[in-house]
Amino acid sequence: MHFEFSEEQLMIRQAARDFAQTELKPGVIERDEHQKFPAEQVKKMGELGFLGMMVPTEYGGSGMDAISYVLVMEELSKIDASASVVVSVNNSLVCYGLEKYGSEEQKQKYLVPLASGQKIGAFCLSEPEAGSDATSQHTTAVDMGDHYLLNGTKNWITNGGTASTYLVIAQTDPSKKHHGINALIVEKGMPGFTVGPKENKLGIRGSDTHSLMFTDVKVPKENRIGEDGFGFKFAMKTLEGGRIGIAAQALGIASGAYELALEYSKQRKAFGKTISDLQAIQFKLADMATQIEAARLLCLKAAWLKDHDQPYAQASSMAKLYASEVAMRTTIEAVQIHGGYGFVKEYHVERLMRDAKITQIYEGTSEIQRIVISREVLK
Ligand code: CAA
Repeated sequence: MHFEFSEEQLMIRQAARDFAQTELKPGVIERDEHQKFPAEQVKKMGELGFLGMMVPTEYGGSGMDAISYVLVMEELSKIDASASVVVSVNNSLVCYGLEKYGSEEQKQKYLVPLASGQKIGAFCLSEPEAGSDATSQHTTAVDMGDHYLLNGTKNWITNGGTASTYLVIAQTDPSKKHHGINALIVEKGMPGFTVGPKENKLGIRGSDTHSLMFTDVKVPKENRIGEDGFGFKFAMKTLEGGRIGIAAQALGIASGAYELALEYSKQRKAFGKTISDLQAIQFKLADMATQIEAARLLCLKAAWLKDHDQPYAQASSMAKLYASEVAMRTTIEAVQIHGGYGFVKEYHVERLMRDAKITQIYEGTSEIQRIVISREVLK
């Protein structure tokens, strides 16, 4: 066991750090305020290879490991979690799912443009009545011989408006329950597919979240991923990796807020000294630093297991559970350390606090992570 990053990992982390400072930081407050999708920045992240990081180069990706992905996600999320969620969803839920389970034709047609950043993807599992209870799919994909007829509504879909390729989970045979669910590749523009209005959110306001409506959408049979009835397993397997991405996002939100609080505490004066000389502040910083380091190690462990083809469902759920709770606690403390300044937008920490909340909810709430972990430990 060793705790050193390779040259390549350090280089990609530095590239993400530089990109976050020079390209994401300017305008991040305005994008949050006006719910503006970081379109230009996402395009540049595609050019840097951040949108298909773990996809082999022959399919348009960067051929990197999951450790590098965690490093990039942390750096981007320190500055702009609205931009980093695009990276997370595109990499772990869409590209990974297609690369691992898609047919060669699906990879050539859909994965190559997604991994190279020419197109963006969305993962469509949640529904008005199927969030945590994901087996309870109401969207239907009726088998019509050479195509499926897709009907239903998906909710809270990240990249909902900007994506071109959507992986849609739908029920084909209700009598088989979750064994009757399929995952279908749906293209924007297919007749009967409409995108609802953008959600007005508490946090990650720059990210593009929509509901999607499908009315008699004809999806060709060749767009089904895997065997008939594989859709629910497909969703669960892709979410295992997705949770590493969101864990790293939460880690970045936490470490971004911590770095701001640390800097501020060394400058702000009160009672005749800098506030970093006060034990009340020192103890907060000590707790933040310790918890962030623990969250980072959990993220890296999950990524390492994935890179080494070892089971990582429990590790990714632990990383997501812990890192998201650390993100919430740390950002609240960062606002507290900033006092009144923390409550206004210019100091960034209030946005990070709002952004932290979603990491306890999406890609499986903290309660769902506890279900996954407890089932594993009780096996
Ligand atoms: N890998 C493979 N198969 C898995 C699996 C995994 N990790 N987890 C479950 N399964 C399989 C089970 O083996 C079972 O199949 P069999 O009957 O063949 O054995 C099937 O899936 C159903 O599993 P359960 O019986 O455990 O189902 P459950 O209803 O009790 O619980 C759950 C499942 C884990 C709670 C699941 O519903 C879940 O993960 N819910 C949360 C969903 C979620 O994370 N949504 C996030 C939306 S995506 C998002 O947020 C993206 C974004 O935009 C950022």
